[in-house]
Amino acid sequence: MLRGLTLVSMEIHVLDHPLVEHKLTVLRDKNTSSATFRELVSELVMLETYEATRNIDVVDCPIETPICPMVGKKLSDHPRPIIVPVLRAGLGMLDGMTRMLPTAEVGFLGMKRDEEHPTQQITYANRLPDDLTGRQCFLIDPMLATGGTLVAATHYLAERGAKDVTAVCILAAPEGIEFVEKNIDPSIDFKVVVCAVDEALNEKAYIVPGLGDAGDRLYGVID
Ligand code: URA
Repeated sequence: MLRGLTLVSMEIHVLDHPLVEHKLTVLRDKNTSSATFRELVSELVMLETYEATRNIDVVDCPIETPICPMVGKKLSDHPRPIIVPVLRAGLGMLDGMTRMLPTAEVGFLGMKRDEEHPTQQITYANRLPDDLTGRQCFLIDPMLATGGTLVAATHYLAERGAKDVTAVCILAAPEGIEFVEKNIDPSIDFKVVVCAVDEALNEKAYIVPGLGDAGDRLYGVID
């Protein structure tokens, strides 16, 4: 499994930390219950959020400590960052992300593969502001597998004016990273944060060794 990756045109951060490896191992284990799986996803997302928000906008905030006045920093409210879970599995990452970014707005995007044109995505749900100009956008989706959904979701945000998009995923496949790198509009300031990059996709486009179907495991379809 890859622990770090440097690509020339796309910024990708792979968390490389023993705590993350420990949590990922429990997450991947097929015997882990849905309740524990959900808790671990939240914890991993909180750790990823540190990396994902390294350049988040802050403003000066004058306060008084018990000792003296000082000027601290607060997350900027104008405009607020926006978190966009990709339905359904992205919802499982929302709690961890909003705990770290409590002032963020939350939008929703439902995308699925177009069975007649398997390389294309159909947007079946959208609850987003029409204008995302100047907004720092955080797309959350646990599995960067083929990369098709991530590219489509990023371009969907870009059509609404977003120029700054960070994708936060739990696992990625090298094929998906390559697809995103080749297909993402280079005018978008785009980066990806993942806990690990696995070996490959299998013939059903599942990540190997992966963790199985993230949505099913989050919502108890397999327990
Ligand atoms: N989606 C999943 O839930 N798991 C994979 O391995 C790939 C895509």
